[in-house]
Amino acid sequence: MKRIGILTAGGDTPALNATIHGAVVRANELKVEVYGLIKGFNSLFNPRVPHVHLNPLFQPIPELDPTIGGTIIGASRTYLSPENHDATKTFVERLHRLKIEGLICVGGDGTLNGMQPLTELLPVVLAPKTIDNDLGLNYRSEPDEWQRKSSDKAPGHAYQRLSSQTVFDLERMINFVTPGFATAVYVSVAGVQRVRTTAESHRRIAIIEVMGRRSGYIALGSAYGRPDIILVPEFALEIERLVERIKELYDLQKNVLIVCGEGIVDQQGNELGVEKVSQDPAGNKMLSGTAEALRQILIKRIGDKYFKDLRRGESAAEVIFTRTIGHTLRGGRPLLFDRFYAAQLGGKAVDLLLERKNNVVATLQWNRQRGFHLDGFDGNSLRDRWGHIHARQLHPSFYDAHAMKPSRAGIEYLMQILPGAIGHDDVESIRNNFFAAGNLLEPYHSFNTDVSKRIRYLE
Ligand code: F6P
Repeated sequence: MKRIGILTAGGDTPALNATIHGAVVRANELKVEVYGLIKGFNSLFNPRVPHVHLNPLFQPIPELDPTIGGTIIGASRTYLSPENHDATKTFVERLHRLKIEGLICVGGDGTLNGMQPLTELLPVVLAPKTIDNDLGLNYRSEPDEWQRKSSDKAPGHAYQRLSSQTVFDLERMINFVTPGFATAVYVSVAGVQRVRTTAESHRRIAIIEVMGRRSGYIALGSAYGRPDIILVPEFALEIERLVERIKELYDLQKNVLIVCGEGIVDQQGNELGVEKVSQDPAGNKMLSGTAEALRQILIKRIGDKYFKDLRRGESAAEVIFTRTIGHTLRGGRPLLFDRFYAAQLGGKAVDLLLERKNNVVATLQWNRQRGFHLDGFDGNSLRDRWGHIHARQLHPSFYDAHAMKPSRAGIEYLMQILPGAIGHDDVESIRNNFFAAGNLLEPYHSFNTDVSKRIRYLE
């Protein structure tokens, strides 16, 4: 292959530029041209296919800086539906006209679902990205455990899991961790630590909502900030136990800090956060208001009297407050761990493509002997028998539902990723850049301004 395309699809992460950079560095070594398609699949829906040549003369363009979050080629949730055969054909014709012989999609489970039809007409490899850490499998046979039943609700069916027959082993996870996750955990830990001291001082109960959709990895990782209680979407809320635990803690320390994943569910399996029901183009439910919904439940259950008797507030509503960490989890400088492995995975995606692999995912594997190492995993093996890719959830052994904290296995998992995740240069960058005079003297200069000057069109 002489020329390949790359696009970044779905929600952004701090490690996308690092992945693109890794791909470009490897492509330079192999003398392959890389065209970046602007705003994910959106570029291919546009007959003019806006794109940027990322390595003229086999040098990365200067805007491509792996320490900057986001993606210089833009991202969108524009989604190629597997049923849309005409669009798929048109996309491939457009790519051929640009003389692009293979495509790297930097994306998550939604992107992998969408890229399937393309793989029938053009070699496509996925380089993983997601802060949610939900791309991959806890074990090889996980997709076979899904059952599909018809349902009155759209899309006419619902999934259920059969109980697992597999003995879980950390070393057998497929795609141990995805770049972007470590930085998101870092931000959530900082949020927890900062809210703690105000909760302590004002005798309050804080509920901090973190992203992650239906997967509790970010919530689990926030354990490094030492919240008192962590609630994850994989375990239905046990309200009696939660209230009991909150009271135990509040009696003792006069403040409680709860982290909840945005996808937590009640005993009936209903998401607390689906106040505003909407979906992104890939069909994912957009969750919002989880912490607030939980707050309302706690206000009712605990009641005002409890706080009045303790002389710590006039009402439950006054004491219990919420903070949503939100998009700060997804932005800014990626930590060393994310930069390093994102770049490696970008390079691996190029290698897989040049080995003529198709419909394959570059993965980051881990075992005790080798630590982290790269591999490629067949995209089809991530699908259930109906062809659907499910977001990976926490393996049940990672969470202690009674303590509402990570279990021993969960701690072992996190400890492979986070202790070395912050690089010396990450710390130095705060010292050098945070209060730099230039921040006051000059306006923000967006990479979009420079990259726009490089955008070319098909016609
Ligand atoms: O999948 C990444 C993610 O950040 C989720 O954790 C979150 O639910 C969602 O995207 C938010 O999407 P948006 O930025 O489109 O609101």
